[in-house]
Amino acid sequence: MIFDTHIHLNAEEYEENLPSLLNEAKEKGVTAFLCVGWDIESSKKAVEIANSFDNVYAAIGIIPTSIDDFSLENILFLEKLAQENDKVIAIGEIGLDYYWEKDIEVRNKQKELFIKQIELANKLNLPVSLHIRDAYGDALEILKEHKIEKAGIAHCYSGSLETAREFIKLDFKIAFGGVLTFKNSKVSKEVFLGISLDDIVFETDAPYLTPVPYRGKMNRPEYIYETVKYAAELRNVSQEELEDMAYKNSLKSLHVKTYD
Ligand code: NI
Repeated sequence: MIFDTHIHLNAEEYEENLPSLLNEAKEKGVTAFLCVGWDIESSKKAVEIANSFDNVYAAIGIIPTSIDDFSLENILFLEKLAQENDKVIAIGEIGLDYYWEKDIEVRNKQKELFIKQIELANKLNLPVSLHIRDAYGDALEILKEHKIEKAGIAHCYSGSLETAREFIKLDFKIAFGGVLTFKNSKVSKEVFLGISLDDIVFETDAPYLTPVPYRGKMNRPEYIYETVKYAAELRNVSQEELEDMAYKNSLKSLHVKTYD
């Protein structure tokens, strides 16, 4: 069984045929999904989808690149949305993105938004889905100063092995997706091989980051199977064993007991 710990079923690419996409994924053993919001609208949509499908959960939050949605009013809205919907099991995706943002003042605003949403996660007693890009140093500094009680998952992890170990110390799981299967993803493979199987979860980040052999096409929920298959070969373990470990890690880090 596979738990996709970060997917955007709320993307407009999937609007037309969500039930059939989820069924195809189910045939490949993908039995649970965390549908992740990136702004207010997509967070509302994530909750709607989670409320329509038993095996879909929602993460709600404002990604650093959607900084325009940052207002105290919207933070309060997210709080209420989580309180009113049991299927909201995480705050995300949240973090820092210095790849797309070079302006220091806006970066400072990203930090402020990140801290506000960490406080929200703690208030609601929820884990988080982290989006960090080219900002691992600052993110760790914030996470050490503002500890997240339930930690969560470092989504689309792209830092070094040494930094991954810092996140693991803070109780985060490291998420691997399509990037792991790319020929030139040397660092991602090094991290994957360098950490314990206890600290690994999988994700698609679909409709983005399509794994090999479908790279170049739009990502689909079922393609996570290719990433897990590739990862098992890389790690020289059976696919079944890896799926089991990652599945347990996903339930544990997202604090999900059962889904049926
Ligand atoms: Ni994402």
